[in-house]
Amino acid sequence: MTFPYISQIVVNNCYTYQNFRIPNYELSQIRHIILTGKNGSGKTTILNRIAFLLSQLHDGKDREKGINDLKNTIRANMKHSLRNSWEQQLQYYNDIDLKYIEGNANVLIEHPEDYIISFFKAHRKVDLKEVETVTKEVEFIKLFKQNDTSGFINQFKQYLVNKKVYEAFDYMNSNDLKINQSKLFFDNLTLTLRSIFKDDQLELDFVQESFEFYLKLKDDRKVTFNQLSEGFSAYLSILMDLLMRADLLRKDKINYSLEPEGIVLIDEPETHLHLSMQYEILPLINKLFPKIQLVVATHSPAIISSLKNAVIYDLTSKDGASDWVLGSSFSELMIKHFGLENEYSSFADKIIFDINKAVRENSIDNLRAILIENDRYLTPSLRLEIESQIISINSRAD
Ligand SMILES: Nc1ncnc2c1ncn2[C@@H]1O[C@H](COP(=O)(O)OP(=O)(O)OP(=O)(O)O)[C@@H](O)[C@H]1O
Ligand SMILES: [Mg+2]
Repeated sequence: MTFPYISQIVVNNCYTYQNFRIPNYELSQIRHIILTGKNGSGKTTILNRIAFLLSQLHDGKDREKGINDLKNTIRANMKHSLRNSWEQQLQYYNDIDLKYIEGNANVLIEHPEDYIISFFKAHRKVDLKEVETVTKEVEFIKLFKQNDTSGFINQFKQYLVNKKVYEAFDYMNSNDLKINQSKLFFDNLTLTLRSIFKDDQLELDFVQESFEFYLKLKDDRKVTFNQLSEGFSAYLSILMDLLMRADLLRKDKINYSLEPEGIVLIDEPETHLHLSMQYEILPLINKLFPKIQLVVATHSPAIISSLKNAVIYDLTSKDGASDWVLGSSFSELMIKHFGLENEYSSFADKIIFDINKAVRENSIDNLRAILIENDRYLTPSLRLEIESQIISINSRAD
């Protein structure tokens, strides 16, 4: 059985626009989908609706059953305080429909626990719960099934502590298979952290007495997960969730090389990230989880040009971009994809305005003045433009 990756999002209504499809054609193999568009164009609405439809499937309800259940619930509870919310959910079914590469979503309905479905909203900050004791794994499996991403992430430290404690039992019982699996998990986590922090000496230290984990960096700084900066925290929140989910699946299937399949939705992965990390985040997720389809909404040229296997769709222009994006400079993307008038800042716009005025007036003095006044800010191309205009005015005067 193959996992039903999304082949097309049929948007009937996302408040701002009606009746269009993302992309314009149905995908025949797994590709990531990246949504762009101006503020208020409907990106978050579309992600929310997809998350809703997938969570319904996860609860065992296909479209027909979902709609029927809601109608029956509303009918039987006409005066209930949740009535508005049920009616809204009924509306969600009208807003969007999903098409899948393998035709239908039965696999997800029948075996929800075998796949990863996660939705990361635009505002992310990890607030890991303090760990006081070891908990049962059943609790995690319950959370996993609930699809509650933020509740799940905040349990990350608990998850790590549990693993350490169970590892000790495994040593006592000489359970080599489990010891190896646990070691693989922590090795994998350390490698991922090293790659994120650009620190090949980073170690994850566990302090038994306080049930606390420290990231030990190469400059000897030690930080807990909760002390991380907003950027690292936002970045890690996504990876923590996926690493835990993948680990639970691998344990369940007793197959540590299992590549989990699924769909992960991320609203504005660029949140809090420096441009270089924006460029890395999706490729890292794709490398760690190659069988997961990403559906992402973004405003970032670094994000849209970071992934090879992606279709990019702009809600404002209803235009699909694809491979040329990878070979484009950020400034080209700003103009061609994000629809800005030019690649310059408003400060540079003013300089360009002054240059054009001086050229119209044939004023070499003014051009020279622009060169001197803006000496510190001129890009090589603007400097060249001014110098060549001076030469050209000069040669006309001869
Ligand atoms: N519950 C609602 N009822 C009515 N209109 C809504 C509702 N939720 C969102 N909208 C409107 O739908 C439009 C799309 O909003 P959405 O948040 O999806 O945009 P977006 O593309 O994610 O924008 P941004 O880039 O600013 O995050 C907006 O005009 C918004 O005001
Ligand atoms: Mg949004």
